[in-house]
Amino acid sequence: MKTVIHVENLEETAKLAETVASYAKPGFVLCLAGDLGAGKTTFTQFLGASMGIEETINSPTFTIMKVYDHSLPLYHIDAYRLEGQTGDFELEEYIHGDGVAVIEWYRNIEEYLPAEYLSIEFKWIGETKRQCTIEGSGPYAEIAKTLSN
Ligand SMILES: Nc1ncnc2c1ncn2[C@@H]1O[C@H](COP(=O)(O)OP(=O)(O)OP(=O)(O)O)[C@@H](O)[C@H]1O
Ligand SMILES: [Mg+2]
Repeated sequence: MKTVIHVENLEETAKLAETVASYAKPGFVLCLAGDLGAGKTTFTQFLGASMGIEETINSPTFTIMKVYDHSLPLYHIDAYRLEGQTGDFELEEYIHGDGVAVIEWYRNIEEYLPAEYLSIEFKWIGETKRQCTIEGSGPYAEIAKTLSN
């Protein structure tokens, strides 16, 4: 299932994140793609806030991953620097863990991903406008469909 929508501004991105957060549960995997500055981290910040995380969510580009402990934990991964190798970094345990895994630049670690996940690709259209291509397989297909309107 593939859905393409447009968000006009940060508020609409926040609203989209809030809707995605309403589906969040243990083991939920959200993969984010798009160029530098497209809005992956910004979306994750809104998602975390909607999940009730009060801590500031920053880009984990240099740390690769940050854990936000919460009733439903958030594992925020940025695989930008992992192209071609993950070393002995234990990503799997988080991606298949008891929280929500959000992975920026997920195509760099495709071999670690589960068979089914929700993905959003952000494309810069204008200063505050973004195109969001949302895809999901298995149980995520229904979510991708719901996000179309
Ligand atoms: N509608 C919008 N949705 C998301 N971000 C927006 C929107 N409008 C403006 N922005 C701005 O675009 C920038 C997106 O930066 P962000 O760090 O989220 O990108 P990124 O995709 O995570 O980049 P990187 O690949 O470097 O991690 C932010 O400065 C944000 O405020
Ligand atoms: Mg980022």
